[in-house]
Amino acid sequence: MKQISMLKNAMKNKYIVPAFNFANFEILRGILIASIEMKSPVILQVSESAMNYFSDELLSGLVESIRKIKHPISIHLDHGKSIEVVKRAIKLGFDSVMIDGSTLPFDENVKLTKKVVKLAHSKNVSVEGELGVLAVSNDDGLLSDGERFTSPIEAKKFVNLTGVDSLAVSIGTNHGLNKYLGGPKIRYDILKKIEQEIPNIPIVLHGASLIESQYVETINKYGGEINKAIGNVNLLKNAYKTHISKINMDTDFRLAYTSAVREYLATHKEVYNPRDYGNAGINAVIECAKYRIKNICKSNLKVR
Ligand code: G3H
Ligand code: 13P
Ligand code: ZN
Repeated sequence: MKQISMLKNAMKNKYIVPAFNFANFEILRGILIASIEMKSPVILQVSESAMNYFSDELLSGLVESIRKIKHPISIHLDHGKSIEVVKRAIKLGFDSVMIDGSTLPFDENVKLTKKVVKLAHSKNVSVEGELGVLAVSNDDGLLSDGERFTSPIEAKKFVNLTGVDSLAVSIGTNHGLNKYLGGPKIRYDILKKIEQEIPNIPIVLHGASLIESQYVETINKYGGEINKAIGNVNLLKNAYKTHISKINMDTDFRLAYTSAVREYLATHKEVYNPRDYGNAGINAVIECAKYRIKNICKSNLKVR
């Protein structure tokens, strides 16, 4: 299904399309089972490093097989940084691509994104652009609020100049284990202004994992050492009422999978069949995906 119609439908009907990254086969399998059982549309996201992990040969086969599943599933390139990786994703049969020029100066971001839009649209592929810089875990303080958060006025200019289908914005979330540097806060005030400037463009929120403490505690209980992991389960509870139409989560699935595998291996010392602990991982991913679909995205039962 064309991703832009998925997102526009979500924006109109006040829900969010879950965009979940898969780092391995088990996470992919868990996400698919959960989305189908919950009757939720889903965007499967692949980063460049995930592409390399799977290999283009196997990934193209996976894309082809996923196409045969009768369910609204869209396959998306996450954080494409170059024209080359965009071309690779299009060749693999992805429905949409993200071009992430967010760390470039505005004019260069526009130039790169515009090029990608021209290329992708000619192949009937949708494009997500990004404006505003999501801080990474340990660089808080390097960027001022003005540099870090998306400017609503620039968002309008960016959309008009590039022709992107959807826009990823920076309003307080971060990628990885440490969210909400400088305090748990999402700038819904900035989001509102962005919505007023670009009322017809679906907004994408990256760095939206919840980082539930249960996963981190289990990982640490069974031999892990994750010292700093800060999330907030409540901050995204009302996001579905806004123009946020696609929410990106990756870290939560890595945590869910790893915690289940660590627990299984620690409590089943005789095990050496990867499918035994793989199944424990898949079950944890299913539960993790269902919770997010129901409580954050409100996208359950949206597939008839
Ligand atoms: O936002 C980034 C994603 O979580 C992808 O991460 O490059 O480790 O697959 P990755
Ligand atoms: P998390 O690190 O919060 O899961 O964010 C993932 C993401 O934004 C992928 O593009
Ligand atoms: Zn992201």
